[in-house]
Amino acid sequence: EKGGYEHFMLKEIFEQPKSIHDTMRGRLLVGEGIIKMAGIWDHIEKFKNANRIIIIACGTSWHAGLIGEYLIEEYGRIPVEVEYASEFRYRNPIITDRDVVIAISQSGETADTMAALKLAKEKGAFIYGICNVVDSSIARITDAGSYTHAGPEIGVASTKAFTAQLTILTLIAFKLGKHNGNLGNADFMSLIAELDAIPKKVEDVLSSTHEQIQEIAKDFVNATNFLYLGRGYNYPAALEGALKLKEISYIHAEGYPAAEMKHGPIALIDENMPIVIIAPKKGHYDKIVSNVQEIKARKGKVIAVVNKGDRQVSEMADYVIEIPETSECFSPIVASVPLQLLAYYIAVYRGANVDQPRNLAKSVTVE
Ligand code: M6R
Repeated sequence: EKGGYEHFMLKEIFEQPKSIHDTMRGRLLVGEGIIKMAGIWDHIEKFKNANRIIIIACGTSWHAGLIGEYLIEEYGRIPVEVEYASEFRYRNPIITDRDVVIAISQSGETADTMAALKLAKEKGAFIYGICNVVDSSIARITDAGSYTHAGPEIGVASTKAFTAQLTILTLIAFKLGKHNGNLGNADFMSLIAELDAIPKKVEDVLSSTHEQIQEIAKDFVNATNFLYLGRGYNYPAALEGALKLKEISYIHAEGYPAAEMKHGPIALIDENMPIVIIAPKKGHYDKIVSNVQEIKARKGKVIAVVNKGDRQVSEMADYVIEIPETSECFSPIVASVPLQLLAYYIAVYRGANVDQPRNLAKSVTVE
């Protein structure tokens, strides 16, 4: 049932071209120039009149939510807040019937997310679910929703569910933007054509980086710490890269927005500190270049995820992983793939049980 792969996690990483495609199927109609999402369309007035959208989730789904904030604010121009479900539910949040609350959950059973949703519902918010497991508790309690069609995710470390969540959030952002006029027709058309090509780009990244990442991973089997840095859309991608590594390899890893480095983490940098830096051309590239200079001045080991043909960051980096160029909003999908592989191989070489890491359960149904 692992389809010839050694672990479910690796199988699920490689399923991403298909799971992203399946998540868009029937929704993204490039030929007709439309995004069809009944869950959004049937309640479009709720979204249109919303004071704000609050996204609640835990773990990887929370990281997807952070990227959702960039997407929905940029394209939909609706204010978004992203909260850990566990914090939201216990802090007496101010919620009204003008709020739309979106819960993101692979399992649809996460106790904190469920409790946070119940609270939002009691306070009159419109509640929307982005779940992977059909008919799960969260899918059932929500007023409406969109399923991610990632298929069953068995590995405890979320991979294909994450990129499917990003796909849904992208569709929602573009649909809202088109509807409320913030996204003009020409931009909408070119963005949806680009989204349609993302599964192919993910496939390309998988085949072009798979062997190289196995080699890179060998050099970091004995690392004790890692920093992951990114800016803009790729700041949450850095958080997610770090979470993947820590949960399956048990190496301590921290994700940071790259510019925050000089407010603390830079003190950690020496020749023993590996730093993964996500540096695509369209994501504040010049700023990232100076961050890499600062790291190299302190002899940190840089593993850079860059676009094909990159020069400036690549010349300074110790390891270079190339991904295809995309508009910035799609870069976390493409950039996450090599980071999943890196975490996977480091964990495998350390002899860790990648599908079932210690102390973790696939769905956290207790608080
Ligand atoms: O099923 P959910 O998406 O609600 O789960 C949320 C987190 O428990 C989950 O993403 C967790 O952080 C994963 N182990 C991350 O890989």
